[in-house]
Amino acid sequence: MDRITTSTLNRYKREGRKFAALTAYDASFAAAFAEQGVPVLLIGDSLGMVLNGDEDTLKVTVEDVAYHTRAVSKGAPKALVIADMPFMSYATPEQAFDSAATLMRAGAQMVKLEGGDWLLDTVRGLTQRSVPVCAHLGLTPQSVHVFGGFKVQGRGDDAGKAILDQALRLQDAGAAMLVLECVPTELARTVTEALSIPVIGIGAGPHTDGQILVMHDLFGITSGYIPKFAKNYLAQTNSLQAAVAAFVEEVEHGRFPGPEHCFN
Ligand code: KIV
Ligand code: NA
Repeated sequence: MDRITTSTLNRYKREGRKFAALTAYDASFAAAFAEQGVPVLLIGDSLGMVLNGDEDTLKVTVEDVAYHTRAVSKGAPKALVIADMPFMSYATPEQAFDSAATLMRAGAQMVKLEGGDWLLDTVRGLTQRSVPVCAHLGLTPQSVHVFGGFKVQGRGDDAGKAILDQALRLQDAGAAMLVLECVPTELARTVTEALSIPVIGIGAGPHTDGQILVMHDLFGITSGYIPKFAKNYLAQTNSLQAAVAAFVEEVEHGRFPGPEHCFN
């Protein structure tokens, strides 16, 4: 795999080439994912749930994400490594600059933060200070207690329009990428077509430029609740490597997600 950069993904978008992404938290899995052709690895604050057993992502700290980012970036030196900015680590632009510095020094090439208009100055400030930013709209899990649960967002014309408008403003502010989580398929299509930056979906239908899954969902390692957008690739293959390869294949050929993984 050549070194993956934002230019690589921008080119994929222009060429209409779909790409896979996975969360990763350690060097061994990161290396295996990169070896199977996954160009983008996210150290998600989902680690609070899948590694630590919490019910939400709110207890995760910048140091937690930095620890796992160091491991992932060593395991997959050619992947584009994105680190999540945890809950309340970017409440002000100054705080965001400090948190981003820690994560970039840990080996991230981009940071991801959740939210819309309230983040425009922060996104602009980070970008001006040489930190590439991935925005995250739709079901933003750090807001789970505001939403009253992990619920699909952007349903209805007004809610959909609000997400589209925020996506455009985040792009104008300098965001280099966007994650859309748990929104109706048609909204994700509209946003993906309206933006020039790559859009990565999870529970957002087949029309986004990239698809991301939490790695545990790909392997069917779940404690109880299985999200609608998840697919267990290990069930149809006989090794972790083959499961990852099948995911990459299905994403690149537009076969994942299927209608059963989508919201309307
Ligand atoms: O924390 C995470 O794993 C994420 C992805 C699900 C996009 O933010
Ligand atoms: Na996250």
